Amino acid sequence: MSPPALRVLISEQQIQARVAELGAQIDADYPGGTLHLVGILKGACFFLADLARAIRRETVIDFMAIASYGKNKTTSGAVKLTKDLDLPVEGADVLLVEDIVDSGVTLNYLIHSLETRKPRSVRIAALLDKPERRIRPVELAYRGFHIPDEFVVGYGLDFAEKYRNLRDVCVLEGGHKGA
Ligand code: IMP
Ligand code: MG
Repeated sequence: MSPPALRVLISEQQIQARVAELGAQIDADYPGGTLHLVGILKGACFFLADLARAIRRETVIDFMAIASYGKNKTTSGAVKLTKDLDLPVEGADVLLVEDIVDSGVTLNYLIHSLETRKPRSVRIAALLDKPERRIRPVELAYRGFHIPDEFVVGYGLDFAEKYRNLRDVCVLEGGHKGA
C-alpha cells in the first residue's frame, strides 16, 4: 500500500489569520462577564488553544468528550458523553469550541445537553464546516472555513488518532478512507 498523500487545504497562515478574526469578533459580541470556552476533546484542542489566546476578555476553559458509535470516519447517530464539564455553567455564557461540523450529530446532541443546565447563552464556534453532510441542524455563531466534502486531518483533526499535530489542515488522499 502506498503511503498516504497529504494535500494542504488550509495553510497554517490562513488558519492563524482567521482565528485572530474570530477572536476579535467574539470579544466584540459578548457583553460583560466570564466566557466559558468548552472544547470538545480531542479534535478541538489546538483550535481552542489558539482561539482562547485570540480572545482578550476574561475566559475559563473546560472540556467535554463524547463517544460516537459507528465506523471511525462518520458519526452513526448515537452519541454518549464520556467526559463532562468540571465547572457549573448555570447563568454563564458558554461557547462550544469544535474542530469540524460534519453530520451535525455531535453538536446537536451537545447543545441540547448544555441547554438543560440553564446557561445564559450557548453558542458554537467551529473551525471547519462541511454543510453538505448535515443530517441534524446546527447553528454556527462562528465558523472558520466552509470546506468541501473531503476528509481532512491536521490542526487537531485525526485519522485513526494520527496527524493531529500537522500545522495545516490537509486532505488525506489515497485508499485510507475507512468509511
Ligand atoms: P458530526 O457529529 O458528524 O458533525 O462529526 C463531528 C466529528 O466527526 C468531528 O468532531 C470529528 O471528530 C469527526 N470528523 C468529521 N469530519 C472529519 C474529517 O474530515 N476529518 C477528521 N475528523 C472528522
Ligand atoms: Mg471531534
